[in-house]
Amino acid sequence: MAFTVNTAQLLLLLLHFVSGFIIDGDKYKRQVSLELNPGLNSSITPPPGVSLLHVRAVGANDTLHFLFCSLGAPTLLMVHTNTSSSSVKVDWRRFLSGSPPSSLQVEPESSILYSSALIFTQLWEYDDANNTANPQTLPPSSFLPPYELQNFTWGDLNLTADSARLCGGDGSPSFSNGSFCLEITAFGSGGRDHGWPRLLHNANSSQLRVWLDGVTARSNHSRFSLELQTVGSSDLPSRVEVLRSIDDEYTPSIFQVHQWVASPFNTTSPVLGYTQWKPVAYRIANPSLEEATPCRHSSPVPLPELPPSGLVRAYFGDGYQASGLNVSFGIAGDPFYNTTDYLSWTMLVGLGTPPVDSFSPLVIVIMAVGLGTPLILILLGGVYVCIRKRRTEPLAYEPIN
Ligand SMILES: *[C@@H]1O[C@H](CO)[C@@H](O)[C@H](O)[C@H]1NC(C)=O
Ligand SMILES: *[C@@H]1O[C@H](CO)[C@@H](O)[C@H](O)[C@H]1NC(C)=O
Ligand SMILES: *[C@@H]1O[C@H](CO)[C@@H](O)[C@H](O)[C@H]1NC(C)=O
Ligand SMILES: *[C@@H]1O[C@H](CO)[C@@H](O)[C@H](O)[C@H]1NC(C)=O
Ligand SMILES: *[C@@H]1O[C@H](CO)[C@@H](O)[C@H](O)[C@H]1NC(C)=O
Ligand SMILES: *[C@@H]1O[C@H](CO)[C@@H](O)[C@H](O)[C@H]1NC(C)=O
Ligand SMILES: *[C@@H]1O[C@H](CO)[C@@H](O)[C@H](O)[C@H]1NC(C)=O
Ligand SMILES: *[C@@H]1O[C@H](CO)[C@@H](O)[C@H](O)[C@H]1NC(C)=O
Ligand SMILES: *[C@@H]1O[C@H](CO)[C@@H](O)[C@H](O)[C@H]1NC(C)=O
Ligand SMILES: *[C@@H]1O[C@H](CO)[C@@H](O)[C@H](O)[C@H]1NC(C)=O
Ligand SMILES: *[C@@H]1O[C@H](CO)[C@@H](O)[C@H](O)[C@H]1NC(C)=O
Ligand SMILES: *[C@@H]1O[C@H](CO)[C@@H](O)[C@H](O)[C@H]1NC(C)=O
Repeated sequence: MAFTVNTAQLLLLLLHFVSGFIIDGDKYKRQVSLELNPGLNSSITPPPGVSLLHVRAVGANDTLHFLFCSLGAPTLLMVHTNTSSSSVKVDWRRFLSGSPPSSLQVEPESSILYSSALIFTQLWEYDDANNTANPQTLPPSSFLPPYELQNFTWGDLNLTADSARLCGGDGSPSFSNGSFCLEITAFGSGGRDHGWPRLLHNANSSQLRVWLDGVTARSNHSRFSLELQTVGSSDLPSRVEVLRSIDDEYTPSIFQVHQWVASPFNTTSPVLGYTQWKPVAYRIANPSLEEATPCRHSSPVPLPELPPSGLVRAYFGDGYQASGLNVSFGIAGDPFYNTTDYLSWTMLVGLGTPPVDSFSPLVIVIMAVGLGTPLILILLGGVYVCIRKRRTEPLAYEPIN
């Protein structure tokens, strides 16, 4: 009898364990609104290709502001305040003429808890004649002059209800039929993007996708890498963590999540902000397994200068330190860029603890069936044995002739 009780308890435990994964604790919601060029009135006209997107994500007692701007190198600035009524104030005349410090502010200043910026500075192209796909070991002669994103000419921001897209080029023949694009998507609650790599997001994050479409390669074996920089509210050391991901259903064949995190002291102290990605890029616009290509990153290094970003100059001013890394697309033996003339990579930028993949429902069902079936069989077997025993008991006392 004790045996069957234990089995029932085990089953209950298993159910509890499984439902804990299905009913995830992520309930935090925000009211999200997008606004183009906050506070700009008709007395000032920004130069063509310069636009400022403000994503306001209001929580219970806090606000998360995302600002995305193409003045200088494309930049995403994230500011977290401890009130639901903080606002963004832009002195447009000063912001557009050199962006001196405090020409863009989040008010009240005393409500600011955390701010950090992610800046896209340079796109590198290299001739990978030996097919090693490792730009860090290549001689400088393999590199073509980098595309300086600060010098790009950008089109207008294409706004939808929850996303904005920015495309541009440097005006050279390579870009005559192509463009470099960035798309930011804001989220008011937790979930998962519908396109691969199907990153998990929450209400404290925004997704950024960058892609290169139709740009003509300048060498016979071109591969690309992208330089990213961050600037944060205090000079926090930053590191890239590599986590194992058990989830194969949403991003097939990719078993890692990489996150570039800012945390004040050491690996045990809480993460304040992050940029998270799966080490995969896609060579076509509608991602498929065949056209997936791994990516690699260099270790983050402190940089001597702040990036050429209008938002960084206007919001942070001097006295801050930038840190940068390169993400390179492709590994040895993978097809070169010219096979599809397309490359797309997605990342998540957010506040606090980065989202962690849990088992997908399919895996849970498989686990439940795999673990549950034997348990149920054992249980039924136990019950059957008991019943058999009871039934056969009277027989046991029958006198033997
Ligand atoms: C989002 O941030 C808020 C405020 O810091 C916090 O209370 C909440 O737990 C966070 N939610 C998630 C899913 O990280
Ligand atoms: C535009 O805004 C500035 C201050 O931001 C103000 O001084 C000016 O009067 C405004 N002009 C119009 C036409 O509203
Ligand atoms: C928000 O602040 C109010 C008043 O300060 C407090 O009563 C409420 O519990 C807070 N809500 C949350 C979710 O922290
Ligand atoms: C927000 O933070 C500031 C500075 O830390 C503090 O003075 C202020 O009281 C806080 N406001 C709320 C509503 O918690
Ligand atoms: C390619 O490999 C050859 C032979 O190993 C070597 O001599 C050459 O320097 C390499 N070229 C590049 C660009 O790395
Ligand atoms: C990019 O712009 C900067 C500043 O305007 C300038 O100094 C630099 O020479 C430009 N680079 C290229 C490759 O045009
Ligand atoms: C904006 O994006 C939508 C959807 O992709 C597209 O149909 C539309 O043509 C774009 N508008 C501009 C001005 O590029
Ligand atoms: C761009 O496309 C046009 C028309 O398809 C073609 O004639 C031209 O050669 C292309 N330019 C480049 C740099 O590929
Ligand atoms: C890509 O470039 C290589 C080297 O020049 C060439 O052999 C190959 O045919 C090109 N592929 C395409 C699709 O143009
Ligand atoms: C690229 O390949 C073509 C044909 O294979 C060759 O004529 C050309 O010199 C190569 N270009 C470079 C920069 O190596
Ligand atoms: C990490 O930082 C926390 C918080 O400051 C501190 O309590 C802890 O001792 C530190 N751990 C190590 C290994 O330095
Ligand atoms: C990125 O790669 C380029 C080319 O190798 C290099 O010059 C640059 O310093 C790298 N940037 C960082 C932040 O490592």
